[in-house]
Amino acid sequence: MALFPSSTQDIPPTGDVPRHIAIIMDGNGRWAKKRFMPRVAGHKRGVETVREIIKACIERGVSYLTLFAFSSENWRRPQEEVSFLMQLFLRALEEEVAKLNENNIRFRVIGDLSRFDPQIVDLIRRGEALTVGNAALTLTVAANYGGRWDILQAMEKMLAACPQRRSGFSEADLAPHLALNYGPEPDLFIRTGGEQRISNFLLWQLAYSELYFTDTLWPEFDAAALDQAIASYQQRERRFGRTSEQLQADSGPERLKDGTRSPTASENA
Ligand code: IPE
Ligand code: IPE
Ligand code: MG
Repeated sequence: MALFPSSTQDIPPTGDVPRHIAIIMDGNGRWAKKRFMPRVAGHKRGVETVREIIKACIERGVSYLTLFAFSSENWRRPQEEVSFLMQLFLRALEEEVAKLNENNIRFRVIGDLSRFDPQIVDLIRRGEALTVGNAALTLTVAANYGGRWDILQAMEKMLAACPQRRSGFSEADLAPHLALNYGPEPDLFIRTGGEQRISNFLLWQLAYSELYFTDTLWPEFDAAALDQAIASYQQRERRFGRTSEQLQADSGPERLKDGTRSPTASENA
């Protein structure tokens, strides 16, 4: 079995605390507009929410947090807003990476970095190298990321890895080339800001994630709001294709230390 099996191939271990939370941080512009402030003031404020949510995730025992910061479609925004977001990203990299490291956080970026300023790419690479051994939380920032881009780039890498092969590929052949190949698929997906769509975020990896949408705007999302999302997650029955009766028949196996349940014999068969 692979270290992080695909949810459509194997039944992943599940527990009360999601191992991996992925968030579309939406609503910064509307938050600012409500206060008669420029949209970019919302983005600035949104960075504070990021700090609070990282801390809250560590306190709650979440192992992976993936944040959608800039989509491959966000280049369509007004030039001034795009420039501001790039400056904000640059400044956050300069100021926050050392703090992430002090807090034992592993930092990763996923997305097509070819459109970014070389200075930003350099800071990303250095931040990733600096924090590679950290274990409190893996924080992934999705920047110039698109779910379709991810699947396509993985496919290209998969084909390059076995140039003689033309058919008979499996999910297990593709998955190791996806951008998030170092972590499990998200257990819980959160989108703030009221929209109920995926907006080309992790298309492959969200196949069996629990989806949670809230009207709360990202600058107002806090630890209590995160707890509400986790509480909703805890109400869900994650069946992965099975029936509720099957789950009940299988209930009661020993719990692992981290709160996850070990797969039962029938799941492993
Ligand atoms: C999300 O907030 C942040 C980014 C996309 C960078 P928005 O900027 O989309 O805020 P709204 O949706 O306009 O309120
Ligand atoms: C999605 O937000 C991308 C990020 C949060 C970075 P958008 O606000 O750009 O999404 P759409 O285009 O309205 O769906
Ligand atoms: Mg938006």
